[in-house]
Amino acid sequence: MFYDEISEYYDQMIPVEKRIANLKKQLAPIIKENDIRSALDVGSATGATCIALAELGVEPVGIELSSKMIKVAREHARRAGMKIKFFKANMLYDQSQFKRRFDAIFVLANTISHLLDKKSLNRAIANFKKWLNPGGILLIQLLNYHRILRDRQRIVKIYNNEDRIFIRFYDFGNDLINFNLLTVENQPGVCDYTMSSVPLRGWKTHEITDILKKKSFVSIRKQGDIKGSKFDRTESNDLVLLARRRQPVYHSGRHLNH
Ligand SMILES: C[S@@+](CC[C@H](N)C(=O)[O-])C[C@H]1O[C@@H](n2cnc3c(N)ncnc32)[C@H](O)[C@@H]1O
Repeated sequence: MFYDEISEYYDQMIPVEKRIANLKKQLAPIIKENDIRSALDVGSATGATCIALAELGVEPVGIELSSKMIKVAREHARRAGMKIKFFKANMLYDQSQFKRRFDAIFVLANTISHLLDKKSLNRAIANFKKWLNPGGILLIQLLNYHRILRDRQRIVKIYNNEDRIFIRFYDFGNDLINFNLLTVENQPGVCDYTMSSVPLRGWKTHEITDILKKKSFVSIRKQGDIKGSKFDRTESNDLVLLARRRQPVYHSGRHLNH
């Protein structure tokens, strides 16, 4: 599995402390404005979002498919002196272990693009609705595939540290994009390397917002980043969708919708 394979390198590409600090800055206004006290982080990877949320005074729970990523996340939380629940769980299935609902759900850093078809996207969004408190916030952050599929640039980014060079690149298919991580040992002469790949779906804005509307999410906002800059499909790096689970409407004491 891709994320089991790369779990050892994940925090070498972007140090976890730096990601936690950035996330804290980005998420603080949303937490404050919406009085968020509990949150679910979907695709929690090595735990940066959950730790940032906990440092902001929110009670987080992380769900993640990769056991190896969860192991690293638990170690980061332990070192930060935090008790955070990370469950090995799939966003596509019902989660009886939650035994509660959340004020917010965060699906950050392109996690949603691991869902490869509309049926899966529908199922995940139906689950998000079920797991949210009425009036709760859903925040989905993915790459801007309007731009990526127009430009078809194969090289995404090249990083290096003292030991390794990380080359991230795409293979463009018809419906799906293969995302590849080539890791090269940084030595003189012939180098060892490993390569891991995962298919992604380049979701367009309307494909996600149509399902959000169908599932009765309201106040749907398109942004270019978490802080709220305007989304420009030709220029923005990211697409951020912010939506709210509708509050039930009561009429003469009768429950009309949920
Ligand atoms: C690109 S990473 C994003 C990680 C994290 N949100 C962050 O900000 O660093 C995507 C993560 O989602 C996890 N994932 C993919 N599909 C999933 C699913 N169906 N349910 C739960 N987690 C999933 C992967 O294992 C991976 O760790």
